[in-house]
Amino acid sequence: MSENTDRFEIAHLARVELFSPKPQETEDFFTRFLGMYVTQREGQSVYLRGYEDPYQWSLKITESDQAGMGHAALRTSSPEALERRVKSLKDGNVDGRWSEDQFGFGKTFEYHSADGHNLSLVWEAEKYVAPEELRSKILSRPSKKPLSGIPVKRIDHLNLMASNVTSVKNEFERHLGFRTTERVVDGDEEIGAWMSSNILGHEVACMRDMTGGRGKLHHVAFYYGTGQHNMDAAEMFRDYDVQIEAGPDVHGITQGQFLYVFEPGGNRIELFGEAGYLHLDPDAQTKTWQMSDIDTGLAIGGAKLPWETYFTYGTPSPLSLDQHIEQFAHFGPGAEPAAVAEAVEETPIEIDHSRAVAGAPA
Ligand SMILES: [Fe+2]
Ligand SMILES: [Fe+2]
Repeated sequence: MSENTDRFEIAHLARVELFSPKPQETEDFFTRFLGMYVTQREGQSVYLRGYEDPYQWSLKITESDQAGMGHAALRTSSPEALERRVKSLKDGNVDGRWSEDQFGFGKTFEYHSADGHNLSLVWEAEKYVAPEELRSKILSRPSKKPLSGIPVKRIDHLNLMASNVTSVKNEFERHLGFRTTERVVDGDEEIGAWMSSNILGHEVACMRDMTGGRGKLHHVAFYYGTGQHNMDAAEMFRDYDVQIEAGPDVHGITQGQFLYVFEPGGNRIELFGEAGYLHLDPDAQTKTWQMSDIDTGLAIGGAKLPWETYFTYGTPSPLSLDQHIEQFAHFGPGAEPAAVAEAVEETPIEIDHSRAVAGAPA
């Protein structure tokens, strides 16, 4: 990574909106199993936060006919940083628009990533202030740790599936001041990039959609900070029939502890145990993983990330998760694009914008 004077202009991932065709079940998943608090209901949406999320919400669940990501918003480190990042996007011909219609947040710049994901930048954010009964005695904790499931502390990171990883990565580097901490290459092609604007291994990652689809969500991750919680959560999910995809194990890439599950609406959710490697070195070089070392990169302990889902399933998906698994049961490295094309219908390039749904009458 070369000198990057724009580093730290983006503070962190503040919030994500998920679409769900089963909004009540999705809400139950996040409240009962992951201990998130509901802070607001509005139209077809419900807003939630983990007990250490600083703002009014970090997760919005909006009813929709398909799973997927409504939008994701990054908070800048100052109002001036927001103006500078927007100017950089516009100078780079990345168009967008200003809005101010999200509960608990102010003026927001909305744009599409090079692959069509709905992304936003925001500075103004209302801090969550707990009512007396939810106030924690631990001063850095905005609310008590709830007595429900295995509670997550906060939102952690976003992983986007893309038809072209390099173009998404370039935008984050050029316009938002992200560093690419690690990447995976297959020959000359980048098939994965982990990008950071602070000292974490990543706030945003991007992986190639092996089906050739565009603009999908791979997963949203929530943070435990305690490795054992991933094992406890796995037991809970196993007992209560929540579909586990892979883990618990530790990635070589980022050294993060992972557990992947599918929430009932069909979106992939990652539970992040310990945060992994912290990037304190300001001019560290990007670490490049070759395919020959990918097994270590994916899972140090040998967990298998299934080809039929992990490298091919994102949301929105033209197939239900079960149908997808059936169609891709024999998919693997080196599959012919034609076979993929037969298995997957055309994925819409433009994902419905969240406002269209969130603004719908209740
Ligand atoms: Fe992740
Ligand atoms: Fe992961």
